Amino acid sequence: MNRHTYRHVLGHFATGVVIVTAATAPGPVGLSINSFTAVSLEPPLVGFFPAVTSRSWPSIEQVGAFCVNVLAVDQEALARRFAGAVADRFAGVGWRPSPVSGAPVLDGVIAWIDCMLESVHPAGDHVFVTGRVSASGLGADNDPLVFAHGRYRRLAPPTG
Ligand SMILES: Cc1cc2nc3c(=O)[nH]c(=O)nc-3n(C[C@H](O)[C@H](O)[C@H](O)COP(=O)(O)O)c2cc1C
Repeated sequence: MNRHTYRHVLGHFATGVVIVTAATAPGPVGLSINSFTAVSLEPPLVGFFPAVTSRSWPSIEQVGAFCVNVLAVDQEALARRFAGAVADRFAGVGWRPSPVSGAPVLDGVIAWIDCMLESVHPAGDHVFVTGRVSASGLGADNDPLVFAHGRYRRLAPPTG
């Protein structure tokens, strides 16, 4: 299967979009992620897959803690911003520190999950990261931002 077909097929799997943030010594870092998943209930573990080329991941790993910000349907611009070549991704972005790690909880997100780094496994051109949930909470009362077929989407009404 060629690269284009592979991406096209996998794009049929719809996901939400999160921004993984961390409080590093020089300042906050964060990147957009759609490879986020719940992993374990007991202990509470979540996971995501940063690329080996990620510039933010090494500093998140060094800090050893991060916060997962679940984006609302009206936060597409934020998803683009934290995936792009912006000098300061946090410029003009409102946030407060999460209760345990102090990583940014971004204004307007629908949920946040504060984590201590649990494990890092090689996974091809990505790494599989798990985090142990230390705190979590809800934010804006809004629908999630959806990503499918390489595009941002909104939820359709419930089917039943
Ligand atoms: C919707 C969306 C989902 C993404 N998911 C991932 C992902 O799961 N893993 C990843 O490494 N990059 C993902 N990216 C790309 C990164 O956000 C992008 O490469 C970013 O520039 C990485 O920042 P960094 O180099 O500061 O780590 C995604 C981008 C978008 C827009």
